[in-house]
Amino acid sequence: MKNLTGKVALVTGGSRGLGVAIALELAEAGADVVITYSQSAQKAKDVVSKIEALGQRGLAIQSDQGDITASAPLVEQVVKEFGSLDILVNNAALANQGSKIDDPNADTQAWDRMWQVNVLGVISTIRAASKVMNNGGRIISIGTGLATHIGVPGVTEYAATKAAIVGYSKGAARDLGARKITVNVIQPGIMLTDMQAGIEDVPDFLLNMKAIPEAVEIEDVAAAVSFLSGPNANNITGAVLDINGGWTA
Ligand SMILES: NC(=O)c1ccc[n+]([C@@H]2O[C@H](COP(=O)([O-])OP(=O)(O)OC[C@H]3O[C@@H](n4cnc5c(N)ncnc54)[C@H](OP(=O)(O)O)[C@@H]3O)[C@@H](O)[C@H]2O)c1
Repeated sequence: MKNLTGKVALVTGGSRGLGVAIALELAEAGADVVITYSQSAQKAKDVVSKIEALGQRGLAIQSDQGDITASAPLVEQVVKEFGSLDILVNNAALANQGSKIDDPNADTQAWDRMWQVNVLGVISTIRAASKVMNNGGRIISIGTGLATHIGVPGVTEYAATKAAIVGYSKGAARDLGARKITVNVIQPGIMLTDMQAGIEDVPDFLLNMKAIPEAVEIEDVAAAVSFLSGPNANNITGAVLDINGGWTA
């Protein structure tokens, strides 16, 4: 259903993984889509070709989400090139996991960089977008079920970056509600993207912690992003939607 016709979407981290599925789902629903990337110029270009093949305008912009001075120019470029901004999907993130917080060999610089990208970068993008976004706009951030239920050691810093976005999104939902801009978080479970490089299958012990013991498909999450972006989700704001087979149930 083309219920996003005439809308302009910005999807951060649209060169690989979940971001690609989101960008294509929004384009399929009729939106023009700008994606960002950090390193993968060719992959981003290929995604733009796929957006265009769906009959929509596409654009890839290299923009490091860890550089908070880049957010305002990014949003300005979207508006300059595509005329407006209706949908922001904060998808780009780093996942530096595997070390406990008391591990003397933990890479704390990598943790700090993750806070910069996953929290400060997302916040500065929301701030910039909120100033120019059309009334009735949509802000959707991709979190993780770990923000609600940790379940395993070694994920503290990553989970906490995503939990911060939940709090920020609820506050932003209040701040922007008068303009009918909705702000929501989608918390996927484990998905077999590059972020999980080295894992061919989700380990049984993790699957067995879910009500439905299956990996999450990126298309399922993209479909939820599209729904929250559309007119049927007018009254959903400040919400956290888990798509994780019941990990948090
Ligand atoms: N995979 C999972 O199991 C899982 C589970 C729960 C939640 N999530 C969340 O889902 C979202 C997507 O994850 P994914 O698995 O698709 O990740 P991914 O495969 O690692 O892809 C990450 C994307 O983000 C971009 N990116 C990374 N750092 C960036 C930066 N500093 N500036 C701009 N773009 C940057 C990458 O661009 P380049 O290609 O240029 O590097 C790439 O397009 C993330 O928010 C993640 O936390 C993932």
